[in-house]
Amino acid sequence: MSPAVSRLPEGAATAALAEPVLRAVHLNKAFYLGETIYAVSDVNLAIGQGEFVVVTGPSGSGKSTLLSLLGGLDRPISGDVILDGHRYSRFNENGLANLRRTKIGFIFQFFNLIHHLSALENVLLPMSFAGIPRRQRLERAEELLDLVGLGQRRHHLPLQLSGGEQQRVAIARALANQPKVVLADEPTGNLDSKTSEEVGRLFARFNRELGQTFVVVSHAEVFHAHAHRVLHMHDGRIVRVDQGQRG
Ligand SMILES: Nc1ncnc2c1ncn2[C@@H]1O[C@H](COP(=O)(O)OP(=O)(O)O)[C@@H](O)[C@H]1O
Ligand SMILES: [Mg+2]
Repeated sequence: MSPAVSRLPEGAATAALAEPVLRAVHLNKAFYLGETIYAVSDVNLAIGQGEFVVVTGPSGSGKSTLLSLLGGLDRPISGDVILDGHRYSRFNENGLANLRRTKIGFIFQFFNLIHHLSALENVLLPMSFAGIPRRQRLERAEELLDLVGLGQRRHHLPLQLSGGEQQRVAIARALANQPKVVLADEPTGNLDSKTSEEVGRLFARFNRELGQTFVVVSHAEVFHAHAHRVLHMHDGRIVRVDQGQRG
């Protein structure tokens, strides 16, 4: 491994103890709209296995762009992301898609469920893509839906479920392939405060009981109570790192 990668610059948002599972190294992303706007600017970051990290900051500060880069949904103009030892820059689009499918769980503000598939089928889908045998995926999907409290609603279509229930299906789906990391972008942005708290507690439970690693973009206080670290972004940079309430 090159020294540039193994040695993070001083002040980097580095996990204190655990072995990093996800790293960003001198990550840059710019958009050209008359002038060059750095949406993500020289971000260095190491997320430990089992960590619960919250990313916060004003609108337009680069949170979603950072999460897309960490998830391999978007390519940086320079720098690299390393997940579980895999450097994204070494992968072509197919390879990266495969990495996303098997190692990352995504959760979005608007749930992004497939509307003509039942809750159960939505949770099964990522496991079919990953080639998990049918019996095994059915067992796991049912177990996950039980864990998020939707066992009784497994045959409902997304639109027959409330927003909070749809997000719980999305959480079960994100966990289906036992991902190395779950990346969530404003997962409670479309939910009321009571439902948001439920989602926060659910994330915390998966983090504590299963050691699931989370990176959650959110302003909502509900996640701060469960976080090991809170990263603050401004103008594409991580400008402050606070210890979370569990840090
Ligand atoms: N596809 C895009 N094209 C042009 N500019 C973009 C694009 N995506 C994001 N930006 C710009 O990058 C900056 C960061 O955006 P974003 O990551 O969405 O911030 P946040 O999620 O913190 O609100 C903003 O200035 C935004 O306008
Ligand atoms: Mg955003």
